[in-house]
Formats: sequence, C-alpha cells, structure tokens
Amino acid sequence: MDLGISGKTALVTGASRGIGLAIAQTLAAEGVRVVGAARTVTPELEKVAAATVAVDLSTRQGARSVVDRALAAVGGIDFLVNNVGGGDPAGLSLGGVLDVEDEQWTRTFDLNLFSAVWTTKAALPSVLERTGAIVNISSINARVPTGSPVGYAEAKAALTQFGKRLSEELAPRGVRVNTVSPGLTASPLWTDPERFGGAVAAVSGVAHADLIANLPGQVGVASGRFSEPQEVADLVVFLLSERAANIYGADYVIDGGTLKAA
Ligand SMILES: NC(=O)c1ccc[n+]([C@@H]2O[C@H](COP(=O)([O-])OP(=O)(O)OC[C@H]3O[C@@H](n4cnc5c(N)ncnc54)[C@H](OP(=O)(O)O)[C@@H]3O)[C@@H](O)[C@H]2O)c1
Repeated sequence: MDLGISGKTALVTGASRGIGLAIAQTLAAEGVRVVGAARTVTPELEKVAAATVAVDLSTRQGARSVVDRALAAVGGIDFLVNNVGGGDPAGLSLGGVLDVEDEQWTRTFDLNLFSAVWTTKAALPSVLERTGAIVNISSINARVPTGSPVGYAEAKAALTQFGKRLSEELAPRGVRVNTVSPGLTASPLWTDPERFGGAVAAVSGVAHADLIANLPGQVGVASGRFSEPQEVADLVVFLLSERAANIYGADYVIDGGTLKAA
C-alpha cells in the first residue's frame, strides 16, 4: 500500500524513545523528513531524523522554539505528531487525590495537554499552508480514569477533546486532526526499571519483571499482552497518510481489547 507521504515533513515530539521514536522511524522509512524533539537526543533518533531538537516541551518557550527550529531545518511542517507525555516519575507521587500537591497537577497538565496546545498553535500556520495533518497521542485513560499519576487521565481526556475541537475548526480548511489512544504499550516508560514502570513496581512492592508479566492480566487486556510501539506507530502513520484522506476528528483506540464498552 502506497501511503503517498514521501517527501513530506513531520515534527514528532517525545521522539527519542518509545512510541515517538517508532513514529519517527516509520515516517523516515516512508521518505518523510522528520524533526524529532525530546530533552535528550538518542543515537536511534539521530539515525533517522533530518534534524533533532533537545528541548523541554513542558514549557511554552520550549514548544515555541521547537517549531521555530523545525521550520528552519525543513522549511515547513506537513505533519505534527503531539506524542510527548506520560508520567515522569522524578518527584511524582503515585498516591491518590489527597496525597498529591497542586504542583503535580500543573506539571502533568503542562506535559500531557498544554505542550500539545502550545506546539499546535505555533505549528498551525505552516500546517494550514500545507494542508497537513495532526495526530495527538492520548490514552485509554482519557476514558477510564484509573491508575496513576493523578491528573494524567484528566489531562489526556482534555487532550482528546482538544483534538476534536481542532478538527471541527480546521476540517473546512482541509487539515485533518485525529487522536490515537493506546492502552498498555511496551515502551521504556514501562519496560525500563528506572522509569515509570519501576516506580509503580516499587510502590506496589513487586519486582519490576513480575509487574510487567502480570499487568496485562490485571488490567484486563483481552489479547493478554502489551502493544508494541511499532504497532502504535503504524496506526499513526496511516492516519497521517493519503490513505486516511477522509478520516477527520476520530479517536482510535489500540489497547488489545482493554476497554470493554462497545
Ligand atoms: N506506554 C504506554 O503504555 C502508553 C499508554 C497510553 C498512552 N501513552 C502515551 O504515549 C506517549 C508516548 O509515551 P511512551 O510510552 O513512548 O513514553 P516514554 O517511553 O517515556 O517516552 C517519552 C518520550 O517523551 C520525551 N519527553 C518526556 N518528557 C519530556 C519533556 N518534558 N520535554 C521533551 N520531551 C520529553 C522522552 O524523552 P526525554 O526523557 O529525553 O525528554 C521520550 O522521548 C505519551 O503521550 C504517553 O502518555 C503511552
């Protein structure tokens, strides 16, 4: 299947590892010139990106500067993938609403919602000029506010709604905006014992390897396994492509059958 995107340009946030890296790699393999941004630029990202930006995207200035750098590097933005997000365990409480300081709500919303709002605002003039496409990476937690950290599900719910609003506003001008909502995905967020998965294992009093082995069963993943970052990336790249030319304002769940409602 020809995706019809060779020669286009893309800005992918949170592209140094996990889902964002898989998206950057898949776009590059299709002939797209990718600008990848994260706080740390990894060799894997360097290998596939036309340009990289080391930036903290949880600030307005960071989001603005990444778009400026992308425009300077590749001349314009056809595709924007707002992937950055998750839960950075440093200093984060995994407790309940009564345990969490206001600052944690702010940090979690800055990373999971406002980063996408700021980046989109900065990139939109170019995306509109090129009649491009946007995909936001939300989560099934937007629909099921379980798990931690507190504030994550709430921020993702707002991100999903932001995608729908944007689509309504931009569809008449030919820009497609869609959302992808993964369930458990085997990115370093879970698989690296030094990151979020390790923090959850520690709080739960289980070994990290046992957490990873048992989690799909515990949260009711019908397929019994995590999705691979590549599986999420394939869906994202399809949605950006010409093959999805009449898909506007949709929210695609990829969760191995975790959500039970029809
Ligand atoms: N994995 C899952 O089970 C799952 C499920 C549902 C939704 N999601 C969503 O999928 C997206 C990607 O998650 P992932 O699982 O691939 O996470 P990950 O493995 O932790 O990767 C996160 C990426 O974002 C970057 N990043 C984090 N904080 C940043 C900041 N302040 N500024 C700039 N870059 C930053 C990281 O690089 P640096 O640390 O170097 O900055 C990395 O490239 C997130 O929006 C997450 O909420 C994931």
